[in-house]
Order: sequence, then structure tokens, then C-alpha cells
Amino acid sequence: MTSLHLLLWIVGAILLQLAIYMTIGFWRHWQTYEALRTTVIDAGLPGKLNDDPVDSGPVAAAWAGWRAFKVTHKVMENASQDICSFHLAPQDGQPLPAFMPGQYLTFRLAIASLQGGTESITRCYSLSDGPRSNGYRISIKRAPAPPNSAHPPGRSSNFFHDLVHLDSLLQVRAPAGHFHIDHSDAPVVLLGGGIGITPMLSMVNWCIAERPEREVWLFYGARHDQELMAHAHLEALADLHSNFHLYFCLSDTDKGTALGSKYQHQGRVDIDLLRRLLPLKPYHFYLCGPTPMLASLVPALEDWGVPDARIHFEAFGPACVKRKSAALAPGAAAPAPSADTAVMVTFAKSGRQEAWQPGSGNLLAFAETLGIAVDSGCRAGSCGSCQTSIRHGEVSYAQAPDFDPDPGNCLMCVCTPKTPLTLEL
Ligand SMILES: Cc1cc2nc3c(=O)[nH]c(=O)nc-3n(C[C@H](O)[C@H](O)[C@H](O)COP(=O)(O)OP(=O)(O)OC[C@H]3O[C@@H](n4cnc5c(N)ncnc54)[C@H](O)[C@@H]3O)c2cc1C
Ligand code: FES
Repeated sequence: MTSLHLLLWIVGAILLQLAIYMTIGFWRHWQTYEALRTTVIDAGLPGKLNDDPVDSGPVAAAWAGWRAFKVTHKVMENASQDICSFHLAPQDGQPLPAFMPGQYLTFRLAIASLQGGTESITRCYSLSDGPRSNGYRISIKRAPAPPNSAHPPGRSSNFFHDLVHLDSLLQVRAPAGHFHIDHSDAPVVLLGGGIGITPMLSMVNWCIAERPEREVWLFYGARHDQELMAHAHLEALADLHSNFHLYFCLSDTDKGTALGSKYQHQGRVDIDLLRRLLPLKPYHFYLCGPTPMLASLVPALEDWGVPDARIHFEAFGPACVKRKSAALAPGAAAPAPSADTAVMVTFAKSGRQEAWQPGSGNLLAFAETLGIAVDSGCRAGSCGSCQTSIRHGEVSYAQAPDFDPDPGNCLMCVCTPKTPLTLEL
């Protein structure tokens, strides 16, 4: 063989290798594109997530009070069949207001009461997709009864799963909430545990649609991969967008068990993992998840030196995480000091008068210990159910609640008495 022949053989082999690499690369991208398209079509949304993910149609102002919405799709989201998404469109067909990714909707439901008849309950659910002008999506986890207890299972979540179907009508208040991502290009780390993934999904979808250059890290904690929602959608996004870093952290997966994809990791979302993986940058951290996750991660981030103003968190129930420093996020009102001695509280209509002690907790818990029935929903200052009129005196809030009480009213679930107090109740 002449050296010319040898050279031709080498060039031919290189070209063949290049062609094989390009074919494999194209095939993998095509599969990713198809996975993404299928996820979006399954969810009943326009199959154009990358090109035009956020509907740019007309945007309306927020509405006051309740508005009727129709369920347009109901989609079971995970293999363990306990998270279900509901796609909602306004019954009046008018455009919807935009919302900030991370915000929630409030629902008023008429459900069968245990005593017979119907009762009205109010619950909040985070928006779990980016804003569009013609519909919203929420995703709800079924709340089972606590193990070995005689208590009934969660009323609203089970009502949604079992009794809300296509074309069901729901009464909904406009998007609200202080927990939302900003519209800047600042790098963000999103930490979602369990159903706390819902506001993070909205943030991820919005960022990828509107800020594709923004650096986004998502750590999604669950016990095992059967519990994960939207994992194919998230993996497809991570395959396509190099700025989006995805980690599924599975706490109940045995060491040595084969993991389902390169995005899955054994173990919890914890500070060691974050310190190991995150480059040193001024990230904003957004956290939503179960109490133990927030109670461990928020102080750990503070200890790591992350300033308070860059740590944002939301609990889906009674607020229980205290910041080490009392500093509030910029723009928030300074908290009024709570009484540090006993204060007399009068419940006018109930005809009760008792001394509230600093250890008695918020006014809702205090009233309940006295056997006074108070309407409540979120117990986190979000839904407005526990709003009560103040006849006399003042209350204080540790931090500004999401729901704005009417003048002369208080949200009993998140306030304490500041002076001797008379409530209408
Ligand atoms: C801002 C915000 C956003 C939220 N976003 C979401 C979201 O995106 N997705 C989501 O799934 N949830 C979300 N939630 C939580 C949601 O609002 C509800 O709290 C949740 O669905 C449970 O409500 P439920 O009516 O089903 O349960 P409830 O009836 O309120 O009961 C809650 C639990 O208590 C148990 N229980 C019942 N009676 C007793 C008793 N006497 N003693 C002890 N335990 C009892 C029940 O079995 C159940 O496990 C959010 C909450 C807030 C505040
Ligand atoms: S119970 Fe929802 S604001 Fe108090």
C-alpha cells in the first residue's frame, strides 16, 4: 500500500467516525425534543414549549373576590399516583392576569361535611406552570390520614383528586403571594421538597422561557423516583439548556440501587451537597418543602454566609422556620413587637375573656385551645379564612402576611396581641 493509499484510508476513517458521532448526536437531540413535545402535549398545552412557552396574549388586571374557573384537563403526574394537576380556564373566557412564578391561587370549595350537609373550606395551591393568558395549572398532592390515627384524610386534596373532574367549576381568587422569583438575570438555586416542587416548576418554566441565559439550579428532593412529578419534562429541559442544572435527590433509594437517570442522586437535599456542587456566586435561594427541610436548610444557608435578603422560603402550612437574624426582605414592613407578658383577650360574641401568654402561640391557636371555633384554611396568612374584626386593641405580625386583611381586621393564624384586645368573634 502506498503512503497515498494509507493517507486516504486514515481520512476516510476519520470522516466515517465524524458521521457516526453526528448521527448519534442528532438522534439524541431528536429524542429529547420528542420527549419534551410529548410531555407538553400530554399536559394539554401548545406543543411549542421552547419557541413560545409563555403565552404572549392579552393580559388582564387581577380580579377582586371569587371568579369561576372550569377544569380543562386533569393529569396524574407521578408513578405513585398521588399528585394530580388541574388545568383551569376562566368560565367567562376573558384574559387572565399575569402572575409572578411562585405565587398561588386560593380556592373556595363546598364539600360534604362529616356531620352531613355541605361546608365551605378555603385552601391555597401554588401555580405550577409559567404564566399564560388563557389558563392556569395547579398540582395537588393527596393528603392521607396520619398513620395509625382515626382522623379523616385531607379534605380539600382528596376532594380534588376524587370529585373534581373535567368541566367541574371552581371558585378561585386571583394569584397572590410574596414568595416569587424576580424578573432579573440573577443566578438562582431552587430547592423543592416533595410537593414543594410546584412553585419551583413555575419558576423553572418561566426562566427557561423568558430568561434562557439565566443560571438556574433545581434540587428536587423526594423519597424515591416514583414520587417525582414532571421528571421527563425537567430532564428534557436540562438536556437542552446548559444553564439549567438538575438534581433529583432521592432519600429512600438504597446505595447500590441503579438510578434511573444521570440526574438522579442518592440522598437528601442538604447543605453539604450544595457546598460541594455550587460554584461561589451570589445566588438567590428559593426553598419550599416540608418543615424539617426548611428548618435545617434555612439556618445552614445563613451559616454558610448567604445574606437573608437572598434566602426566600415558603411553607405550605403553619410558619415554623425562624431566621437567625430578624432582618426582613427589602421592602417588607418591620415587625411590630409582640407582647412579652400576659395580655387580656376578649372574644366578644363567644363571651370569653382569657389571658394570652407569650407561649400561647398565635391568636387562632389560642382561640382553639379555649374551644372557640374559628374558620381556617392555610394557617399561614395566605388564604384570609381566619380574618376577624378587631373591636379594640392592636395585634402584631412577625412578618407581613401574604393576604391583606381589611382595615380593622386581623389574620388570627399569624398574629399575636400587642395590647389588651377585643375581637368580634
Ligand atoms: C401558599 C400555599 C401554597 C400551597 N401549594 C400547594 C400545592 O401546590 N400543592 C399541594 O398539594 N398543596 C399545597 N398547599 C397545601 C394545601 O393548601 C393544603 O394544605 C393541602 O392540600 C392539605 O389540605 P387538605 O384539606 O387536603 O387537608 P386537611 O383537611 O387540611 O388535613 C391536613 C392533614 O391533617 C390530617 N388531619 C385531619 N384531621 C385531623 C386532626 N383532627 N388531627 C390531626 N390531623 C388531622 C389529615 O388527614 C391530613 O393529613 C399549599 C399551601 C399554601 C399555604
Ligand atoms: S387560615 Fe389562612 S390566613 Fe389564616
